[in-house]
Amino acid sequence: MRFHHVVIAFMAYSFKAEGSLICESDFCVCHHNNKSDREVFGEIVECSYDPILLKRNLSLPETAYTLNLSRNSLVDVEFSLALKSDTLTELFLNSNKIKNISPNAFRLPNLKRLDLSDNQLEVIREGTFDRIQKLEYLNLANNRFNTFEKITFHHLSYLVEIVLDNNDLGPSLENNNLFDRSGYGLTHKIQSLSISGINLDTVHENFFVDAFDLRRLTISNNSLISTFVFPFTLEYLDLSDNLITEISEEDFTELLALKELKLNNLLIKDVPGFAFASLHSLAHLELERNQFLVNFSATAFGQEVLDDPVDFMLETLSLKGSRLTSLDKRLEVPFGQLIRLDLQGNFWNCDCNLKWIQKLQIHPDLYDHIRCYTPKPLYNSRVFELDEKYFTCTKVHRSHRVMVTISIISFCLLLSSLAVWVYMFLPRNHTRCDFANVYSGASYTVLPVHVSTVRDPL
Ligand SMILES: *[C@@H]1O[C@H](CO)[C@@H](O)[C@H](O)[C@H]1NC(C)=O
Ligand SMILES: *[C@@H]1O[C@H](CO)[C@@H](O)[C@H](O)[C@H]1NC(C)=O
Ligand SMILES: *[C@@H]1O[C@H](CO)[C@@H](O)[C@H](O)[C@H]1NC(C)=O
Ligand SMILES: *[C@@H]1O[C@H](CO)[C@@H](O)[C@H](O)[C@H]1NC(C)=O
Ligand SMILES: *[C@@H]1O[C@H](CO)[C@@H](O)[C@H](O)[C@H]1NC(C)=O
Repeated sequence: MRFHHVVIAFMAYSFKAEGSLICESDFCVCHHNNKSDREVFGEIVECSYDPILLKRNLSLPETAYTLNLSRNSLVDVEFSLALKSDTLTELFLNSNKIKNISPNAFRLPNLKRLDLSDNQLEVIREGTFDRIQKLEYLNLANNRFNTFEKITFHHLSYLVEIVLDNNDLGPSLENNNLFDRSGYGLTHKIQSLSISGINLDTVHENFFVDAFDLRRLTISNNSLISTFVFPFTLEYLDLSDNLITEISEEDFTELLALKELKLNNLLIKDVPGFAFASLHSLAHLELERNQFLVNFSATAFGQEVLDDPVDFMLETLSLKGSRLTSLDKRLEVPFGQLIRLDLQGNFWNCDCNLKWIQKLQIHPDLYDHIRCYTPKPLYNSRVFELDEKYFTCTKVHRSHRVMVTISIISFCLLLSSLAVWVYMFLPRNHTRCDFANVYSGASYTVLPVHVSTVRDPL
């Protein structure tokens, strides 16, 4: 009993003694941010390896700007003086084991960025964001949310960026809308939404109708089988790692502001003509690891850019790791304008049609894996190291094939005339011996004719 009291007294004392300022704690480091590139005034407080940090009730310095509480194995987030500040702007609670956040835990009226990723949250209760209403960025990736109705975004009218990756939210979004006007959803001010790996297989027609200002959309690593109506305000779109089998001109017609497009690891077989022709702002395009992609249309970027690339804004293009065998020579002009072009890891057929790509200004770092797949003698040769005399569409090759065909046809003719001959003469009751005589006699007269047809093309 006594011992208990002593322990409690000691604990109370130690909490109080460490008490006042978080910067005096053994687990925390405080320093000023004086980097000139950021308009940041205030202290950065970093604490690690202290699971009972919030229970210690330590207070923040008066002008705290950033509080980093990641990697402390925190489970519950309850109110503590460490979560009360008028100046704190960034709070990192990522990579803990947080299961529960008390609705009144945060008293941070100027907080702009909150990172809660890599935790074990299933619910965000109503009221949680009531005293952090200036929030602009919220990261909830890698938690255990499985219905978006359990995340109450209520009141976050300044929120512009949200990350919800790798939560099993897809099924609950099939009929619902993240931009729900009844109050729980995101406001129409959202500019950046990341919903990668949420197990989403369809995007219903009205999903983005209330997203008036969406500029960045990451919807990669889902099970989408087709494209959908993209908000026309987009500047960045990542559709990678989905089961999309086809892209077409119509998909991207409205996206006049789109600057960056990622179409990696899809099931598309071809990039059709005019697919990207209406993307007049597109500067970066990735089409990597498309294991079925065999055709890239010469007019993928439209017809005009083939002669006059004045309107061709693309700066970087990656076609890495696909199954292309050739590229149309007409792409020489627009591709010549690119700052970076990655053609590595394709199944290039090094014949006369591919010779032109040696003229492209490709960065030497991107040479190594541009290799011939066919013809066989050139297999695995580096395209940019190969003498241009090897890029042939050989006549020898073709005449050889013609010759073989003619020989086969002649041989068949010979066989069939023999068959006809046998058919005509056998029923006439010749003796076996006679037949043999006739056969041997005729064969000498017939054979040379056929031999000469075989030899002719030689
Ligand atoms: C800026 O920070 C560095 C350490 O990060 C420190 O050495 C330096 O003295 C600081 N400069 C000013 C003017 O506070
Ligand atoms: C933390 O400190 C504040 C102010 O001193 C006090 O009101 C609050 O009860 C304390 N909380 C805990 C858990 O000790
Ligand atoms: C927060 O602290 C952890 C180490 O405890 C560090 O790995 C991480 O980079 C820090 N985060 C930021 C944004 O500084
Ligand atoms: C892709 O999503 C699945 C869940 O659907 C997840 O397990 C996996 O880690 C994600 N991959 C990446 C690279 O994030
Ligand atoms: C690729 O292009 C060739 C020639 O235009 C065409 O014959 C072939 O069907 C195309 N393949 C695919 C998968 O689109």
